[in-house]
Order: sequence, then C-alpha cells, then structure tokens
Amino acid sequence: ALTACGSGDSSGAADDTITMGFAQVGAESGWRTANTKSVQEAAERAGIELKFSDAQQKQENQIKAIRSFVQQRVDVIAFSPVVETGWDTVLLEAQRAGIPVILTDRSIDSDDTSLYETFLGSDFVEEGRKAGAWLVEESQGESSVNVVELEGTTGAAPAIDRHTGFAEAIAGSNIEIIASQTGDFTRSGGKQVMEAFLKAHDDIDVVYSHNDDMGLGAIEAIEAAGLTPGEDIKIITVDAVKDGMQALADGRINFIVECNPLLGDQLMELAKKVVAGEEVPERVVVEETTFTQEQAAEVLPDRKY
Ligand code: AHR
Repeated sequence: ALTACGSGDSSGAADDTITMGFAQVGAESGWRTANTKSVQEAAERAGIELKFSDAQQKQENQIKAIRSFVQQRVDVIAFSPVVETGWDTVLLEAQRAGIPVILTDRSIDSDDTSLYETFLGSDFVEEGRKAGAWLVEESQGESSVNVVELEGTTGAAPAIDRHTGFAEAIAGSNIEIIASQTGDFTRSGGKQVMEAFLKAHDDIDVVYSHNDDMGLGAIEAIEAAGLTPGEDIKIITVDAVKDGMQALADGRINFIVECNPLLGDQLMELAKKVVAGEEVPERVVVEETTFTQEQAAEVLPDRKY
C-alpha cells in the first residue's frame, strides 16, 4: 500500500519541499514497527513529504514501489532491502532518472556502489559477534554447549551477518550450532521452528535468535514443552525492543544485543544533504549496546519502543 504523509506538493517539483519515497520491508517485528514510526515522525519534523510503501517482506513489492517512486519523480528514494541481492536493475533505473538512493537499516550486495549515496544502519556482523562473545564467556567451564539458531529472513543482510559474526566469535570454543533454520524474523516463525527443534533434539542448551520476536515465539514453544526458558534453555536475541527487554528483565531471555531502529532523524538529515548535492559519508554506523537481565530491569521504565 502506498500512502503519503507530511505536507507539500506531491510532485516534489513545484516548491522546495523534499519528497522522499520510502520502501519499507514490512511489519514483521516490533523493531520494524518502531523503525517505521521513527521514519514517519522524523519526516514530519523535517518537513519532508513521505511516500511510504510496505513491501510485506517481498522483494518484488519493493521493486514495484521503487519503480513507482521513480515514475512519480520523487527527490530521493530510501529503502531497507528485504534481501541483499537483485537490486542492480531497479537502482540503475533510479540512477538514470537522476534520483539519489539511500540505503537504510539493511545493505545490498552489489559491485556497483554508485547505485546508492550512502548506507545508514547497524553493523550486523558486530551484533553477531557480541552475542557469541557473551556466550563464550558464559560457557567457561562447560564441556560442551549445543546451540540452535533461529535465523532471520533467508538472504537478508541481518540474517547473513548475524550468523557470520556469531560463528566467528564461537570458533574454536566448546560451543556448537547443532541446528539452524529461518523463522523469517516473526514471532510465529520463531515458535514454529522452535517446536520442530524441540522435537528433533533433546540436548538443546541455548537458542540464538536473530531477533527478539523469534525469541519470544521460541519462549512459547519452550514453555509448551514443559521447560523453563532462561533456565533449562538459555536464550540470546538481537534488537532490545520493549517486549524483548521485558522478557529479559523477567529472566526468560538471558542476553540481548541491541539493534537501534530509531534511524529516522539521521535519515532525514542525510536526505536533505543528498538532495542539496552535498557530500555524505559512504557509511553511517548506528551506535548500539548490549543488555544483561539486570541492565534490562534498570532501563525498561524509560524504554521508548
Ligand atoms: O533489519 C533489522 C532487522 O529486521 C531486525 O533486527 C528485525 O527485528 C527486523 O525484522
């Protein structure tokens, strides 16, 4: 669905109002909802007219949205690619139309870096490393630790990179990933995959989930199997959205690596510069932290999303 919000002329040409076409991944997780809200509110604050499209986690929908933004001759296109590959053709169309593109949250895998102006988002490999490093520390003295991995959307940058970083951090340790499957970043996906993992394996020590939502789904499956999440099976997730932080503070998750969804203001700032023809850095990395159970309890009352 394409919706416009903000003020100004919808062609983006008649006055100084910048029009941004934003092709969002979907509404798969609490993180995504917070990210969408951040982008919409920041556009409003910056006086940028936003044409917002929700791709429902489908690359073909995002490609259609980008083509429609090109046709509407927006001033700038921003998008968070569902998957890493397959963008060159449509981004070339935007380039030929003279419309600059900003990658936000997720990057693409392309040799042609001239297809976009900048990439604003987290270091997903580093997030995976932080998750693995915590587990290595936590597992000192254990003879072996069996991990099941709930992967994000197949082919998506955060799924690829969070696996890479985690695998790198646990290499050479007593920790082994015994099963790995996608739960598509959704709560229901995480629950379903965890149910299957629990049927196939009776020796699971840890769940490493690429986001909070899948971890929360896994908690439901673990409880339904008569086990105690956080104790019988430890859980590590990524994101730190409110529901995840609540479960962490309650002892049902053991560790969360933060992924910050509040990219809106930085995105609008970059958009203004790009449209004005000013130089922007090729890469803008978002600052992030990690949370233990005690830290979650402390920050939860002020958590905004
Ligand atoms: O691209 C960021 C990831 O996408 C978040 O970690 C996940 O929750 C979302 O669906």
